[in-house]
Amino acid sequence: MEIRKAEFVISNSDVMKCPTDTRPEYAFIGRSNVGKSSLINMITNTKGLAMTSSKPGKTQLINHFLIDDSWYLVDLPGYGYAQRGKTGRENIRKIIEDYIMYREQLTALFVLIDSRHEPQQIDLEFMEWLGENEVPFSIVFTKADKNSFSRLKENIESYKASLLEVWEELPQMFITSSEKKQGREELVDYIDAINKSLK
Ligand code: GTP
Ligand code: MG
Repeated sequence: MEIRKAEFVISNSDVMKCPTDTRPEYAFIGRSNVGKSSLINMITNTKGLAMTSSKPGKTQLINHFLIDDSWYLVDLPGYGYAQRGKTGRENIRKIIEDYIMYREQLTALFVLIDSRHEPQQIDLEFMEWLGENEVPFSIVFTKADKNSFSRLKENIESYKASLLEVWEELPQMFITSSEKKQGREELVDYIDAINKSLK
């Protein structure tokens, strides 16, 4: 699938104020700084569409980007950013949880995981929370360019082993680098197939 048009529509702190049309949407969640906003720019081939930063905590709202007038990509704030203070963290947690629990247009959720690290408790717990709430998700490993091939393979194998301690089967997984545009086609084709199945 080719993406011809990508436009920013609106930012919201409240899921109830998000666009009211029924176009399907695809959302990215994960720890602050994992590369959610960068991935949206990579997928849409539009540098600067979603705001990114080398410091964690950049995205603080629910951001809707309309793609080819027919579906949305949604950039969410990241979890796990320690410096935000207790109230700040609570607010962000509520934004994320309300969006995931109440957004009927949410068609697929991608949990982004930094491919440089061993399985992290915070991500495993977040996925368990999704499981408890019966929210299906896929995993997108990010920043693949920052690893050697053998290290990347090792980290992903180790992640699979951790997941299989809790889950009976593994979710769909993608390996990406926004820097090198790796994994773009797989993600876009996956979204395209879902969009087609909805018609
Ligand atoms: P929050 O909005 O704070 O939750 O972060 P985020 O998940 O949106 O991360 P963002 O896209 O802002 O990226 C964080 C940092 O990681 C930026 O400095 C990006 O340039 C960098 N980054 C993101 N993806 C990649 C990647 O694939 N490779 C490399 N090398 N750096 C990346
Ligand atoms: Mg962001």
